[in-house]
Amino acid sequence: MPLTALTALQALELMNPKSGETIFISGGTGSLGAMAIPVAKSHGLTVITNGSAANKDRVCALGADRFIDYKTEDYAEVLSDVDYVLDTLGDRELPREFGILRNGGKLVSLRGMPNGEFAIRTGMPALKRVILTFAGCKYDQMAARKNQKYYFVFVHEDGAGLERISEIFAERHIEASVDEVFALDDVNKALKKVAGRKSKGKTVITISR
Ligand SMILES: NC(=O)c1ccc[n+]([C@@H]2O[C@H](COP(=O)([O-])OP(=O)(O)OC[C@H]3O[C@@H](n4cnc5c(N)ncnc54)[C@H](OP(=O)(O)O)[C@@H]3O)[C@@H](O)[C@H]2O)c1
Repeated sequence: MPLTALTALQALELMNPKSGETIFISGGTGSLGAMAIPVAKSHGLTVITNGSAANKDRVCALGADRFIDYKTEDYAEVLSDVDYVLDTLGDRELPREFGILRNGGKLVSLRGMPNGEFAIRTGMPALKRVILTFAGCKYDQMAARKNQKYYFVFVHEDGAGLERISEIFAERHIEASVDEVFALDDVNKALKKVAGRKSKGKTVITISR
């Protein structure tokens, strides 16, 4: 929760959404999605997400209003004019995600490139601002075509945010999503599983005393 739920909350804060608007969360079947979906619902948003069909019921139980199986349906062909996109897939999907965003919509990426706005928001010195302005200009330019905004998020510590998360999860009876628990001796199996990107939540390593 301190990583994924806080990331989702900080992304939603940048969007500053109004109740009744629509968000597309890419790859919402992962551990980030398991937190981002309830956080988005707590803002009154309609949530659309995609992932593989085996995870559909679990994701819908978290509050997703529409689920797209990425193996049989292409979100870029069936969605348009969404108000916000929360990107968890990065470079390969970003151009298509901008394509489904409405004029003036906001896209927050967790895997794309940091940009100048990120450098300023996080208080970076002048040289880093210049470097990141250059690094992220590809996505700023994609966004500018339809008066959209591109943001990058790198989660930061936030005690008040964690309290807010606790309230949201208590109100909505949500628990952190744990995929599988491994003993420390099996750490290589755990890493292999994570690398395979087929999780239903967080992978946990237990350390016995
Ligand atoms: N910037 C930050 O501060 C920050 C913070 C947290 C996480 N992140 C990043 O956010 C990303 C997501 O994190 P996570 O913890 O959710 O990862 P995860 O648990 O590994 O989940 C990834 C999900 O992506 C789905 N997926 C893979 N290919 C897809 C495709 N083509 N279309 C739609 N869905 C697809 C998978 O779906 P299926 O299993 O259903 O096939 C899987 O559920 C990671 O890259 C992580 O590094 C960044």
